[in-house]
Amino acid sequence: MRHIPNLKDLTSSELTSILAKATEIKANKEDFRHHLDGESMAMIFQKTSTRTRVSFEVAMTELGGHGIYIDWATSNFVLSGIEHETEYLSRNVSSIMARLLYHADLQKIISGSQVPVINGCCEIFHPCQALTDVLTMRENFEGDIKSAHLVYVGVQNNVSNSLVILCDKLGINLTLATPNVDDNGESCDAYVQQTIESSSYVRHTTDAKAAVQTADFVYTDTWIDMQYFNDPNHEDEKRAKLELMMPYQINAALVKDLNCKIMHDMPIHDGFEITPDMVRDPRAVIFQQAENRLHAQKGLLWWVYEQART
Ligand code: CP
Repeated sequence: MRHIPNLKDLTSSELTSILAKATEIKANKEDFRHHLDGESMAMIFQKTSTRTRVSFEVAMTELGGHGIYIDWATSNFVLSGIEHETEYLSRNVSSIMARLLYHADLQKIISGSQVPVINGCCEIFHPCQALTDVLTMRENFEGDIKSAHLVYVGVQNNVSNSLVILCDKLGINLTLATPNVDDNGESCDAYVQQTIESSSYVRHTTDAKAAVQTADFVYTDTWIDMQYFNDPNHEDEKRAKLELMMPYQINAALVKDLNCKIMHDMPIHDGFEITPDMVRDPRAVIFQQAENRLHAQKGLLWWVYEQART
């Protein structure tokens, strides 16, 4: 049985096989209609979600299984130990996916679980998003994806951390174009920092304009952590962050005349990390990327259940 807290423990061959299976299932959906017949996944949410919830639930349904939405706040996770509630769950379901505020709580779920656990995004990692992103790049790049250049423009966070891990393992060129003073606070991870410093495939720059000149893909994500975006207590921090980040906005000036695809993992904050015209630009693959959450999830579920069944 293998858990997916992040992508660190997966080999490049395992990651490639998950992506290949995602592509295969996307092209041959009916062939996999009964692959997870009778299986149930508990989907635990401490934070808001549109894509993660919908894609996992639809993926389970289309593979023949069932996804059960569990809202943390209205479940007895709020009353009891995480390990106890998880151990109970894992006697009734065959997999668990959790979107949590803190990775430490995901580790508690993993320690209490007798079934595979998938990280549906925490403050440090968003492995399912990174798999989706590379799946989308493969669909939009002629030739070997290893010769593509992905430029992530914005703040270092759970999404960029997962891209760092995945691109390093797959040998994809990734440039992080983020401010030097971008202290990535709660999303900081020693393994990721070490990879940025030592990988032949990953580099950091503060110069977004220079970095995008050789980009095949220009990618951005929200500048403000989702749980803080509408929080009045974070207004001052939000204002300072927006001022710092404006040179990193994806707008017509930044990508003028460039032959690159534009990516965003959604939800979008129009006029902040990206302007509305760039969301609808012919180069944007944002909605294809969002749709691909479903297909990447299927590839990952296929792999996780293969591990559990052998
Ligand atoms: N990209 C992403 O994880 O979307 P949701 O927050 O809507 O799940």
